[in-house]
Amino acid sequence: MALSASQARGPSADKADDLTMSDTEFQRVANRVSDMAGIVLESHKRQMIVSRLSRRLRAREFNDLTTYLDHLDSGKDQAELQEFLNTLTTNLTSFFREHHHFTHFENHVLTPFKTQQREKLRVWSAGCSSGEEPYSIALSALETLGRIPRDFKILATDLDTKMIDRGRSAVYPTERVAGIDTRYGRHLKKQPGGETVKLPQAVQEAVSFRQLNLLQPWPMSGPFDVIFCRNVMIYFNAQTKAQLIDRFAQLLVPGGFLYLGHSESILGEHALLSNKGETTYQRVTR
Ligand SMILES: C[S@@+](CC[C@H](N)C(=O)[O-])C[C@H]1O[C@@H](n2cnc3c(N)ncnc32)[C@H](O)[C@@H]1O
Repeated sequence: MALSASQARGPSADKADDLTMSDTEFQRVANRVSDMAGIVLESHKRQMIVSRLSRRLRAREFNDLTTYLDHLDSGKDQAELQEFLNTLTTNLTSFFREHHHFTHFENHVLTPFKTQQREKLRVWSAGCSSGEEPYSIALSALETLGRIPRDFKILATDLDTKMIDRGRSAVYPTERVAGIDTRYGRHLKKQPGGETVKLPQAVQEAVSFRQLNLLQPWPMSGPFDVIFCRNVMIYFNAQTKAQLIDRFAQLLVPGGFLYLGHSESILGEHALLSNKGETTYQRVTR
């Protein structure tokens, strides 16, 4: 009896809908996403990966992963390469996630900024996903300073173009903001019908969304007063993490802060960064 395609791929093939992924295909997917974005795909996520890719293959009418991967390898379809990356990123985020960083930002950056009557502040939300993080930064400023200063700018970047589009829209389902403190929530504008809210104009204008792969050269020269790069480097290997930490440290003003995600760290001592606790690091002043 002839074997079906999925049987022929062996016991370790994963399946979603009509799509199967062999070990070889998984390795090709993993190598590509690691080379392009630094993201390490762990084998326990194979089922999730095949399920996400099956939607992509259906959209482009490819019948099997090998043909799809050959198409990506041909280098003739940059748009599909971006879609492939969008499919494999993990974009989990929320407003005021890891609130302690916003408390620290308000007490150690915004309050001195207000006291010194400064106007210029540069913040980078690196790996901003769908925009909740940079908008939380702007809402923190609006609440602490009573206004968004003229030269207060937040750069929000992500690899995933779909997330950047979502951030730019500045509209979120009402349930996404249900839990946020009313200090910040009162600035959100309910949209007709009540199912969505929109960020106020001043907050939108403070945030610039750009697509940026952190592994590639960065077009901006900085420096930044604050960098948020939270829950992004968990997907990278140690070498990529260490290189990124160095690059972030170089781009901070002396005394500036770097916030990482709760399970991340700068991997030991760093000549330019001092550990302030709760995954908060300060660029040394010398
Ligand atoms: C889990 S989300 C974190 C979002 C937000 N920083 C937070 O903590 O809520 C991780 C984000 O990192 C982005 N990302 C992954 N690899 C990237 C890369 N090489 N360059 C830029 N962004 C990347 C993903 O697209 C995703 O939106």
